Amino acid sequence: MARVDNEILFQQMNWRYACKKFDPNKVIREADWNILVETLHLAPSSYNLQPWKFIVVQNTELRKQLFDASWKQSPVTDASHFVVLTYKEKMDEAHIDRHVQQTSKIRNIEIANLAKMKEVAMRDLVIGPRSATIDFWAQRQCYIAMGSFLTTASLMEIDTLPMEGINAPEFDRILGLENSGYKTVAAIACGYRSPEDKYATAKKIRFDTADVIVYK
Ligand SMILES: Cc1cc2nc3c(=O)[nH]c(=O)nc-3n(C[C@H](O)[C@H](O)[C@H](O)COP(=O)(O)O)c2cc1C
Repeated sequence: MARVDNEILFQQMNWRYACKKFDPNKVIREADWNILVETLHLAPSSYNLQPWKFIVVQNTELRKQLFDASWKQSPVTDASHFVVLTYKEKMDEAHIDRHVQQTSKIRNIEIANLAKMKEVAMRDLVIGPRSATIDFWAQRQCYIAMGSFLTTASLMEIDTLPMEGINAPEFDRILGLENSGYKTVAAIACGYRSPEDKYATAKKIRFDTADVIVYK
């Protein structure tokens, strides 16, 4: 038995839209935020390496600066919460060790028994040819977290705007990420739609199902 009715799921898929105008007076309740943010924390990633940090920008002054670095898109300052998705630029042994230690601790496994897991990840992502494009790999992992966040938010009737229309190097500078090993890839504004946002009632534009869902 599904936990959520198909009809409700479909309704919420259509309820969500890229919110262009947030109500600046509506704040996500702490209890709701604490659940929503778990979608980022619990997002799956390749090898479970979680090559990311999600920065929730609460400082008003920083939000103003980020607004200037986002072609002045109002959701950056008006939405209840603003999350910057950053990815780990390079995969390295220290990060993989950190994951090995966490696995050992949580599942009570001897580090020695995780050596194979470490070796496979090292060979693939740190030493192997994929290391040359590992930044793209890490960015893709961030988008999985983003998708999960957007979907869950829609089920909670929390509005979102996924944003690539940002000046990522400027974001890095404003957030003090230079030399941190992490870089901005995208952002998400979230909160509640303003009644003035005309996009809320605009019809969805998508290619026909048969053009994009192919059964073989
Ligand atoms: C990764 C990503 C980045 C986006 N960046 C922006 C953005 O910077 N500004 C904006 O107004 N919309 C942005 N959008 C919203 C898309 O234009 C929107 O999702 C698309 O037109 C489909 O409309 P809908 O989400 O309302 O169904 C972005 C969407 C995604 C998924």
